[in-house]
Amino acid sequence: MNETYQEVDENYKVFHATFMKYLEKVQDYEIESEGSSIQAQIEYDYDLIVGYPNIKNILEIGMNMGISTATFLSVRPDIRVTSVDICSHDYVEKCKAILDQDFPGRHTLLKGNSLMVVPQIPITEKYDLIFVDGNHKEPYPLLDIQNILPYCHEETFIMVDDVCDAYGKEGVYQALDQLTDENKIKFIEQVSAEDRGWAIYRKVFA
Ligand SMILES: C[S@@+](CC[C@H](N)C(=O)[O-])C[C@H]1O[C@@H](n2cnc3c(N)ncnc32)[C@H](O)[C@@H]1O
Repeated sequence: MNETYQEVDENYKVFHATFMKYLEKVQDYEIESEGSSIQAQIEYDYDLIVGYPNIKNILEIGMNMGISTATFLSVRPDIRVTSVDICSHDYVEKCKAILDQDFPGRHTLLKGNSLMVVPQIPITEKYDLIFVDGNHKEPYPLLDIQNILPYCHEETFIMVDDVCDAYGKEGVYQALDQLTDENKIKFIEQVSAEDRGWAIYRKVFA
C-alpha cells in the first residue's frame, strides 16, 4: 500500500499508519498466503466505511492473513469484526494474535468451516457489513451468502469477493445469479481492479 492515495487527510493518515503497523508484522506470511485484499480493495473498504459511519459491526467469511480484517479495524476505533476461518493455515491464528495486540477487544475469530460456524451465530446478531471471501468454489459461495442473510438488517452491505472472470467462474457468479434471480439479494455496485473484482449487494426484504 503506497501513500499516494487521493487526498491524504488526517483520518486517512491515522488509518494508513495503523494498517501499515499491522502489515509489517504479518508480511512474512505472504509467501504461504492464499490471497488477500489488494490495494484498490483496501482503499475501497476505507471509503465505504468512512462514507457510512453506521458501519460498526462487521462479519467476514475468510480471514487468511487478516488484511481485510485489519483494514476494517483501522478505519475507526468503533469498528468490531468477527472473522470466520477454517484455519487450515497455521498463520491465521498467528495473525489473530497480532490483531488482538493491535486492536484489543475488537476482534473475534470463529474457527471452522463457515457452513457449520455461521449458522451457530445467535440470530439476534446483526451486522452492518458482511464480507463473503471464504471458499470461492461451488457450492460454498451460494451457501455462504444464503447463510448470512438472517444476519442482515435493511442497511447491511453484503460485499462479495472474486466477482471477476479470473476467480469467479467456479461458484461466485453462479451464486450471485441464482440469488438475484430468486430475489433474495439485489445488486448495488461492482468494482474491478487489476484482474480482481468485488461487488456490493443488499438483502431483499419482502
Ligand atoms: C481469500 S482468503 C481471505 C482473504 C481476506 N478476506 C482478505 O481479503 O485479506 C480465504 C480464506 O478463507 C478460508 N476458507 C476457505 N474455505 C473456508 C471455509 N469453508 N470456511 C471458512 N474459511 C474458509 C481460507 O483458509 C482462507 O484463509
